[in-house]
Amino acid sequence: MKKATAKAHSNIALIKYWGKQDEGLRLPMNASVAIGLEEAYTTTTVEFDEKLDKDEVTMIGDEFNEMETTKVSEHLDRVRVIAGINAKAKVVSTNNFPKAAGMASSASGFAALTVAAAGAAELNLSEKDLSILARQGSGSASRSVPGGVSVWYTGETSEESYAEKIDFPKSWKIKVLLVMAEGTGAKKVGSTEGMALSKKNCPYYSTAVEEANSNLNKLEKAMAKGDWSAFGKVIEDECFRLHAICMTTTPNILYWRGVTVEVFQTLYKLREKGIEAFFTVDAGPHVHVIVKEENVEEVKMALAELSGVKTIIETGVGGAARLIEQHLF
Ligand code: DP6
Repeated sequence: MKKATAKAHSNIALIKYWGKQDEGLRLPMNASVAIGLEEAYTTTTVEFDEKLDKDEVTMIGDEFNEMETTKVSEHLDRVRVIAGINAKAKVVSTNNFPKAAGMASSASGFAALTVAAAGAAELNLSEKDLSILARQGSGSASRSVPGGVSVWYTGETSEESYAEKIDFPKSWKIKVLLVMAEGTGAKKVGSTEGMALSKKNCPYYSTAVEEANSNLNKLEKAMAKGDWSAFGKVIEDECFRLHAICMTTTPNILYWRGVTVEVFQTLYKLREKGIEAFFTVDAGPHVHVIVKEENVEEVKMALAELSGVKTIIETGVGGAARLIEQHLF
């Protein structure tokens, strides 16, 4: 059978997904918005082979535990069902950034796996169908399929819950700085587990979900008006909304380190000088800073002075998940 390789970019959520209305189908509690990250991506090659008696999954430069391998196999099963095939697959994958440390490796990982597996099974799926399929592997992966700035709709059925690109003010010319915190390994509470705990044990959960919908509304308005300050206010409110849910969950989930807060404070100081760059944080200590191209150097210089910052990766907005010719085996 055919061998296929896909490249998919990670994404950073501006309006956060944190909880499912349907665990099995991965239908989210609220719609979310994200920016694809050009310089953070996963490349995955898939080949179905009748001779294999089980799926063989390798992550270059990293170990895959049994649970992760099972998740990959379950995702391949979804593709096998659609394609009507039984063959097991060889899968080789590589990330160009650290896995499971609050950088969305599952987003780019499942988007790349979906596109590569669909290609290897010779399925001709639309971007919407690929997004629906990727969502079932990991919710945030639905947004890595269209890439760019995208919204993932909540939906009441599987067919209605997919992501697509939305308009973003072109004149803003944005960059994202991935500010990586020093000395952090894989996160202790993964997103899947964390959001299930929050839904069950955070006393403010339902109010917080309503707030996400209202924030999405505000974000759309800010983008339509081209109001950069209002846009930044919403994404920082969203960052605090997610982490307030996490911190008030039992057991408490604290993803931040000291340096996470130091980055916020550095950005507040720059704001007093008229430089408006905005922060957001997913399930880990690293900060994503959304900044206009013209301010990149000044913001980078200020952040590089913080001793807890390990590296700063500057990236543009990533494109859609796509098939490429360079196979990994
Ligand atoms: C904090 O997509 O990793 O990054 O669907 O259970 O695999 P599962 O969760 P996942 O959660 C991402 C959570 C987040 C916020 C976001 O990306 O919207």
